[in-house]
Amino acid sequence: MIISSMNFKGGTGKTMVCTNLAAAFAQLGKKVCLVDTDESFASTKWAGRREEREVTPSIPVVQMIDAKTIVSSLRQLNKDNDIILVDAPPRLNPLVSKIILLSDLVIIPVPPKSGNDREVTEDFLQRFETIQEQRTDGERTPAYLLVNMAKDGYKLHSSFIASLPQLCEDYGVKMFDTQINDLVAFGESNQFGVGITEYSADKAKKQFLSFFNEVQKYSTH
Ligand SMILES: Nc1ncnc2c1ncn2[C@@H]1O[C@H](COP(=O)(O)OP(=O)(O)OP(=O)(O)O)[C@@H](O)[C@H]1O
Ligand SMILES: [Mg+2]
Repeated sequence: MIISSMNFKGGTGKTMVCTNLAAAFAQLGKKVCLVDTDESFASTKWAGRREEREVTPSIPVVQMIDAKTIVSSLRQLNKDNDIILVDAPPRLNPLVSKIILLSDLVIIPVPPKSGNDREVTEDFLQRFETIQEQRTDGERTPAYLLVNMAKDGYKLHSSFIASLPQLCEDYGVKMFDTQINDLVAFGESNQFGVGITEYSADKAKKQFLSFFNEVQKYSTH
């Protein structure tokens, strides 16, 4: 199964989603592979910190930045593993278009942080729809928004979140019920090359597990 995490924008939590899902699936004994397609290689560096600290289970990471070979490479990896997590760059280029067409599930982390986050999300969904039209089988790649880095009690955040269901309806995408707050434990666990489910921080772990349950329900469909 190929799960990818993407958005136009930098710093929305794409890598956080991939590395934490990789750790959570690996903890369950799944054969997991991280695929890093972002040239800043944040997922690769996370896996490197994990390796250095000899954290188990170890999680292999493969770098793929060539749009010409990504289709065959991803298909092969998908045969050899249970779960592939693809960390995408903060743009929509030919490489990302191919990832969309190959994915079983696309996760779009959206932060409700700044005034233009809604426009950025809408721009992304418009382009996402155009890419889907290239599918020759008439199917659509399932895509879910994930509210990430929300702060409780911020009006800007709550009004952004309240506008998302309509946006999802307009563009035929869904939204995870779970919302992830801005919590320092995500930064800390990242720094140590572990997933939040391997790191003790109750609130962050609880929120991520709730999200993980939703992803698992999806992946056993
Ligand atoms: N819910 C969260 N709470 C606190 N910090 C978070 C949360 N999600 C992600 N972060 C932190 O925010 C930073 C950006 O997250 P991340 O690297 O996952 O974003 P990205 O979309 O992959 O960014 P880029 O576009 O640069 O690849 C990281 O330092 C990460 O640890
Ligand atoms: Mg990243």
